Amino acid sequence: MDRIRIVGGAALNGSIPISGAKNAALPLMIASLLSDEPLTLENVPRLADISSLLRILQNHGVDYKIDGKKPGDAQTAGRTLHLHARDIVDTTAPYELVSKMRASFWVVAPLLARMGEAKVSLPGGCAIGTRPVDLLLMALESLGASIDIEAGYVIAKAPKGLRGAEIDFPKVTVGGTHVTLMAAALARGHTVIHNAAREPEIVDLADCLVKMGAKIRGAGASTIEIEGVPRLGGARHAVLPDRIEAGTYAMAVAMTGGDVLLEGARPELLQSALDALTASGAEITSTNEGIRVRRNGAGISPVDVSTAPFPGFPTDLQAQFMALMTRAKGVSRITETIFENRFMHVQELARFGAKIRLDGDAAIVTGVETLKGAPVMATDLRASVSLVIAALAAEGETIVHRVYHLDRGFEHLEQKLVACGARVERLAGQG
Ligand code: UD1
Repeated sequence: MDRIRIVGGAALNGSIPISGAKNAALPLMIASLLSDEPLTLENVPRLADISSLLRILQNHGVDYKIDGKKPGDAQTAGRTLHLHARDIVDTTAPYELVSKMRASFWVVAPLLARMGEAKVSLPGGCAIGTRPVDLLLMALESLGASIDIEAGYVIAKAPKGLRGAEIDFPKVTVGGTHVTLMAAALARGHTVIHNAAREPEIVDLADCLVKMGAKIRGAGASTIEIEGVPRLGGARHAVLPDRIEAGTYAMAVAMTGGDVLLEGARPELLQSALDALTASGAEITSTNEGIRVRRNGAGISPVDVSTAPFPGFPTDLQAQFMALMTRAKGVSRITETIFENRFMHVQELARFGAKIRLDGDAAIVTGVETLKGAPVMATDLRASVSLVIAALAAEGETIVHRVYHLDRGFEHLEQKLVACGARVERLAGQG
């Protein structure tokens, strides 16, 4: 297993191109199962999670092709992915494939909607507390599917097709909203989703489904209406920029100091995180090219944040913001309201000398003057990158073990940081 070695202390200066969003690309790729015509996705990031999902789609019978690099293309330019689910040859998504990534469970919706049946292993993914799928199954049942769970598999059936329904989520769920959008797009009649997730990735999926011929109104609001259609066609769609990647690098710059342009980042996708960064003393400006983040001289001020569904502070940036707060001049309180047990980074941050105390669903962070490099272990996707942020500002050397977590979600992480002056290298092999 690869490791990453970081020698802290260098400010970040330059520009970082922001990749296509993993969390948008995954549902968009899954949507290819809804049609027997080709779906072309542009700006798809090169990530382990994307490759895992391609293996799953291939198993269902999806043909795919990835455009090669053209002369003059930047190394970091997103890829174009052509997906074609002409014939679904298998409606089972096996444990070996689904257990690697939770979002792959969402194939249940298009398979059920198009083929009338799906057998999908219960999901795996990041170890961040219990992440049930009860609400996803509730939505599919409301749409007329029968659901059984046998030997770790969900068996969903709707031999006569799905029918529109009124679905009221008791809790905002991104996956639940994606699944309902895909299933309802091909259901008979009208569906209303109440308390829908409003994340930009939901809007991106809905936009693409509409290009494929779906009738959807209200994506981005908490009530979404879908009028089912008998079939969907092909489309071409560009994946939106990754707000979590942009927020992560913004926090890294706020941590180390410096001046970085996040190329292609869109401020409206992460305003709450940018507000928290501004409150911490970073200077954020929006330009035509992206978001510019600066912090020169002034120290880091403590800021309390509480995670919430969009447009609130994203849970996927909680660990990174906590890393920043470990060096603030004072005490901050970081509350996690979306996932239980999403504090695995706390004990690893403590290895740098950070002072963090857990209090129920909150972490109380007392800023320290200096962090010191240490060997640390990546535990989940977002937690891992918080260790990178801490390491960039720590004195001396840090070795991050188990970096495959980072490879699931951050494209060209080392290259992007090195280009801005960070001392980061990947050590292949043991670890
Ligand atoms: C997605 C994101 C993930 C992000 C999360 C919250 C992708 C690929 N992943 O995950 O990065 O952290 O949104 O913004 O887009 N819940 C239930 N029952 C269910 C489904 C969810 O109780 O059936 C709960 C979850 O345990 C959690 C909350 O609802 O407490 C929100 O989860 P959800 O929005 O569904 O997260 P994901 O879609 O899995």
